[in-house]
Amino acid sequence: MTSAGGVDGSPSAVSESNFLRACRRLPATATPIWLMRQAGRHMTAYQDLRQQHSFIHLLTTPELACEITLQPVDRYGLDAGIIFADILTPLEDMGLPLEYTEDRGPVLARPIESRGDIDNLHVPAPDAITPYSLDAIRLASRELHNRNLPLIGFAGGPFTLASYAVEGGSSRDQLKVKALMMSEPDTWHALMTVLSELVGNSLLAQAAAGADALQLFDSWAGILSPADYAELVLPHTKRALEIASAAGVPLIQFGTDTAGILDLMSTAGVDVVGVDWRIDLLRAWELVGPDYAVQGNLDPAALMAPIDQMLARAKSILDSVAGRPGHIFNLGHGVPPNATEDSVSRLVDFVHEHSAVPVPNA
Ligand code: CP3
Repeated sequence: MTSAGGVDGSPSAVSESNFLRACRRLPATATPIWLMRQAGRHMTAYQDLRQQHSFIHLLTTPELACEITLQPVDRYGLDAGIIFADILTPLEDMGLPLEYTEDRGPVLARPIESRGDIDNLHVPAPDAITPYSLDAIRLASRELHNRNLPLIGFAGGPFTLASYAVEGGSSRDQLKVKALMMSEPDTWHALMTVLSELVGNSLLAQAAAGADALQLFDSWAGILSPADYAELVLPHTKRALEIASAAGVPLIQFGTDTAGILDLMSTAGVDVVGVDWRIDLLRAWELVGPDYAVQGNLDPAALMAPIDQMLARAKSILDSVAGRPGHIFNLGHGVPPNATEDSVSRLVDFVHEHSAVPVPNA
């Protein structure tokens, strides 16, 4: 099959894919769809591999990470792959050892407590940040390009990484990281400066290895007041994206609970703004303005509802933006681990069918 404007597997076929066209707000033959956390957890094929290997083994073995990246793309006919990696692994290359535990999720051996801890961190050169994931990107981008599909690379936003670095693991209320940011602004800015360089370098290296678009997961930024976000986070996010922008590929920024800061987030230097389900998608698009593409925003819980309920919600999102160029369909956060493959499959097919632009004389 040849997609519009290019020969199979050629660079132009990939750049003319519906996903990359939507990133540039160009019309697509159907609304492109990919799903955050599409690789892994909910898929039987992943669970089978996970029975045999630890998460970290899967992440650090490029052939396996490539295979897991392709699993959802081939199973569902998604419009893009996202590399099977994690936002936290770059912290290790900076001097913060990390362990993925079965019961508590990711845990840092030595969380940041003082200015001295920050002075011990270093920013590695781009090629030295998660080199195993860069190898996985080389393999997966080749495979996806053969299918005329793009690959998304990603990193955590500096705030979300700072949250893990200071809290030492997942945290509901983020009180430690907020206390540091509010009580020791110099220490805070020193930490965010190192993290923004790490994130920028990581994104740059991923694009050089073959990623066609880059997403910043600033998943927890919505926990901040707009004033704190603007002063204590946004300048560092801008710096990370400024470094990444040298790659010349579309940049996407995503966070949850961001209705109060979407207008600020969109000024960070991205092409696409990811939106969760707590705000109406069209309203979000009005807030960020017409110069951006938007990505979202089905409540992931809909994947657990009866199929007709899920599809009704997907339909109302598609109908609300009415095929306006620059909409990338996604969930408002990741695919839940207990979503069924049948629900995901029905969602992807529905989005494609409902949004397909009739081809003249077809
Ligand atoms: O989207 C994808 O399919 C690509 C892979 C991906 C993973 N993590 C793999 C993973 C992506 C994009 C991430 C991002 C990520 N990781 C975020 C931001 C997005 C979000 O969900 O808000 C965060 C906060 C993390 C940190 C992290 N990694 C946590 C909290 C956990 C444990 C709980 C969980 O979410 O599963 C991980 C482990 C992790 N990362 C798994 C996977 C597939 C599960 C590992 C397993 O099999 O046990």
